[in-house]
Amino acid sequence: LLRIFAAQDLRGLKILVTAGPTREAIDPVRYLSNRSSGKMGFALARTAMRRGAAVTLVTGPVALPAPPGVEVIRVQSAHEMAEAVFARAPQSRVLVKAAAVADFTVAAPAEHKIKKSGEELSLPLSATVDILRELGARKEPRQLLVGFAAESQAHYQEGERKLREKNLDLIVVNDVLDGQSGFAVDTNQVTLIGKNGRQEMPLLSKEDTADRIWDAVRALLDAQDA
Ligand code: CTP
Ligand code: CA
Repeated sequence: LLRIFAAQDLRGLKILVTAGPTREAIDPVRYLSNRSSGKMGFALARTAMRRGAAVTLVTGPVALPAPPGVEVIRVQSAHEMAEAVFARAPQSRVLVKAAAVADFTVAAPAEHKIKKSGEELSLPLSATVDILRELGARKEPRQLLVGFAAESQAHYQEGERKLREKNLDLIVVNDVLDGQSGFAVDTNQVTLIGKNGRQEMPLLSKEDTADRIWDAVRALLDAQDA
């Protein structure tokens, strides 16, 4: 019931959210990907929309329906995600990068299905563009940039490093080894790290985690206007 009467505290804001994994083609029938389900990014899009924002969701391939009222752009590869995001970034006040973007893509995808032969196969990979880092480098004065960090060790140090190196306003750190957080589950236990310190969240549904992230974004927007 509370959700129906959600505060319209993001009204009028253009928000871009990314979600899901990417797929990097190996040949016409195979790809490299990861375990991201898209649930966190979709929860972020849905909750922001409820709170009054105009939301665009750029998502990799996931088995989730489009949240009503959200503009959904479906992409496959890291390169396609980068193009879709860069085209829309200048018009967005807040950008939240929940997608699990491939760090490497197949250097030369095969035009035809690769046949089995021999005992080994090597697949040369090349680095993808770090979308978030690029957005940080191009950030406009009043834009807010929120990143995610999936870590299995040294969580806070890694989160703080990514916050600084990618010029972010906020980073959401989660533990990919903890079975109740991160990939493909409905709950999450995250830590929010900003320039002025960190906030550990309890174990929550992804929907409630999303609302806590928007609370933190709202506070940063208020601080800009103060
Ligand atoms: N990210 C991105 N583009 C990439 C890789 C990552 O935009 N090519 C973004 C993710 O969407 C996420 C953040 O960067 O918001 C952190 O992703 P993560 O994998 O934790 O960090 P990396 O910087 O890729 O470093 P590493 O994988 O080595 O920990
Ligand atoms: Ca990565």
